[in-house]
Formats: sequence, structure tokens, C-alpha cells
Amino acid sequence: MRIGIYPGSFDPLTFGHLDIIERTGNICDKLIIAAIRNIAKKPLFSIEERLEMIRTCCASMKNIEIVTFDGLLADFCKERDVNFIVKGIRNSMDIDTEYAIALMNRRLAPKTETILLLAGSEHSFISSSMVKEVASYGGDVTSAVPQFVNQKLIQKFSN
Ligand code: PNS
Repeated sequence: MRIGIYPGSFDPLTFGHLDIIERTGNICDKLIIAAIRNIAKKPLFSIEERLEMIRTCCASMKNIEIVTFDGLLADFCKERDVNFIVKGIRNSMDIDTEYAIALMNRRLAPKTETILLLAGSEHSFISSSMVKEVASYGGDVTSAVPQFVNQKLIQKFSN
């Protein structure tokens, strides 16, 4: 059984994340979507809210498990016998960052490979930070996030 893991903050989940989740679901037997519990920068959404978004938007996917983690991703991968970590690449900056992280993760968990998937061109400009900034000013982010997430953003910024 090939187990993949897609780690992230998912603050909030975007169409870019969903694209990677759907495509990775096709190349592994089981995909663990792992939302990091504690983010250095204070998240907009609580871990419960981020999990709810993932659960709702991935409800039709059969071979996924949604979890939270804390600490080193490499330790979690060793604990769960994860075969590969998947990351989405949108641009050359992502490559530089993810290349260094992949090398470190391989040192820490030598049996876990990192697979870098190129983001679909229609998603290559989307980031959770940009979505939050645009939504905070009342801008339309419906091209970047699922309807459920859009509603949560509207609620969050109307408080
Ligand atoms: O969605 P993000 O914020 O880009 O996700 C970043 C994440 C959660 C994948 C990354 O911060 C991570 O793996 N954190 C766990 C701590 C860890 O293992 N750090 C070492 C990487 S060298």
C-alpha cells in the first residue's frame, strides 16, 4: 500500500490545494491530508475550522484520511510509514524553498521521498495569504476557493 501525505496550513483551503489533493489521490493508495496545528504566524482559521473546510470540500474522495500534526513532519512520516510527501509547486520561488525542505526531510526520514507536483496553470497564482488579503477588503475570491470556504471568509471578515 503506497501512502502519500499532503501537509500544509490550509489557512484556508484553496482550489490550488484541491487540485494537488485530487491529482495525488490518483497516484497513491491512501492520501493523508495533514493540517499543521500550530503555525508560527497566527492563523486566521482555527484548526477545527481548517479541518471542517477540508472535510467538506473533500467529502467525495474515498482514499483520504484527514489528520492534524504538530512537530516535525518527518517524525510523523516515520510514525505512519509514509512513502511520499507531496508538495505543490507554483513558481521558481516554491522550487527553491521546497528543494531545501525536501533535502532536510530526506535526512530526517530517509525512507520517505518528496514528490513535487507542478500546480495547474490556472492555480499557479493562488495562495492562501493572497486569498485572505483580498477577502479582508471584501474582494471576490470565488475563483480561488470553493464556495464553502468563501462563505467562511465572508463570515470571518464581517465580524
Ligand atoms: O501550507 P504551508 O504553510 O506552506 O505548509 C508548511 C508545512 C506545514 C508543510 C511546513 O511548515 C511543515 O512541514 N512544518 C512541520 C515542521 C517541519 O517538519 N519543519 C521542517 C521542514 S525542514
